[in-house]
Amino acid sequence: MTPRPSPKPAPVHLNADSAEAIIEMRGVVKRFSNAAGEFTVLKGVDLTIRRGEFVSIVGKSGSGKSTLLNMITGIDHPSEGQVVVGGADIYTGVTESQRSKWRGKNLGIVFQFFQLLPMLTLLENVMLPMDYVDMYEFDLRPVRALALLEMVGLEKFANKLPVLVSTGQQQLAAIARAMACDPPLLIADEPTGNLDTRSADTIIGLFEHFVTQGKTIVMVTHDPSLTSRTHRNIILSDGELIDETVSRSLPQLRHRHMLEFTKLAERRAFQPRETILSADSRVEHFFMIREGEVEVALKKKRSKDIILSRLGADEFFGEMELLRGGKAIANVRAGGKPVEVLMIPRADFLRVMEQSPVTVEAVGRIVQKRLEEHRVADPRAGRKVHK
Ligand SMILES: Nc1ncnc2c1ncn2[C@@H]1O[C@H](COP(=O)(O)OP(=O)(O)OP(=O)(O)O)[C@@H](O)[C@H]1O
Ligand SMILES: [Mg+2]
Repeated sequence: MTPRPSPKPAPVHLNADSAEAIIEMRGVVKRFSNAAGEFTVLKGVDLTIRRGEFVSIVGKSGSGKSTLLNMITGIDHPSEGQVVVGGADIYTGVTESQRSKWRGKNLGIVFQFFQLLPMLTLLENVMLPMDYVDMYEFDLRPVRALALLEMVGLEKFANKLPVLVSTGQQQLAAIARAMACDPPLLIADEPTGNLDTRSADTIIGLFEHFVTQGKTIVMVTHDPSLTSRTHRNIILSDGELIDETVSRSLPQLRHRHMLEFTKLAERRAFQPRETILSADSRVEHFFMIREGEVEVALKKKRSKDIILSRLGADEFFGEMELLRGGKAIANVRAGGKPVEVLMIPRADFLRVMEQSPVTVEAVGRIVQKRLEEHRVADPRAGRKVHK
């Protein structure tokens, strides 16, 4: 029986400090050489993935997604930098054959083209990893393999050769094989790329089920309907990672513009209640909130300030003033907790917006929605905004 796909998983509010990292990449560079010379595919990737996260990775063809996964699985090695998986540096002082055994015990790997051995039955395919790393009692292996096939709904086909089942079923068998040694981490490179929508849906449902059991999953995909079901979506643009606050704040931006913002962004922290932007001052930056909550308030001389809105992580401010011209219409200050923002200089923000009408439109819609929501919540303050 395949578990039914559930709706988008609740975000894992893992505390960045306390949740244990299962993957740590620091300054990972990968160069390849060809006839034309050397070229760099990964240009210094820093990435942390914590236990229990379901992470998708997207990016244009050739941006380095598979290369990145190969650095995590140890299938290929970085030219520079460090990769720590499950607490162990997988490249320092480890031989190729040690790495191969480590991979067999600790990782499940799924590819776009299932790579089942054609002369073996589905059951034998699933037993293979257990044989390779010599895990589980010899007699128990077929029992366990059958249970895994049952988990993916293929017990009836256990003794069939891969060619006799559908492509969707072959991928399900490949997933059962990936889970053979009960690895804590599943790495999947476009696992649904070759499948119809229904089979793809079944597979993601299965992944969601694994995540509820505490597994960590990192999946490359081109399908936006799948990225919306993961906890975190990481974008790779020409071998570099895009800051996740940038991509979540402005999802309509082209990847190259997101990357530009990633590089331009200045990170700044504010203490609780500290002013970030004063009303009537010239707005010099576009602000994206990385952490914490800000209050947008109208200062009143004789009475209490009116809070126009509260904005949280992945929301932004300063855009109205930058796009329409004019000074700050309200005060923006940190809420009760420290706030961290990313700041893009005025001229850079306006230049990119000029090149991305879709984003300008989307920003306009978000602002409009914010104002309307506010009007519903507090008609008095709503009128103030529109004056
Ligand atoms: N072993 C290799 N030798 C030389 N060049 C390579 C090698 N592997 C990948 N490349 C090159 O590195 C770049 C990134 O490749 P990669 O396969 O990581 O991209 P990708 O993002 O997975 O693309 P796709 O979406 O098409 O799968 C490409 O230009 C590719 O040709
Ligand atoms: Mg690829």
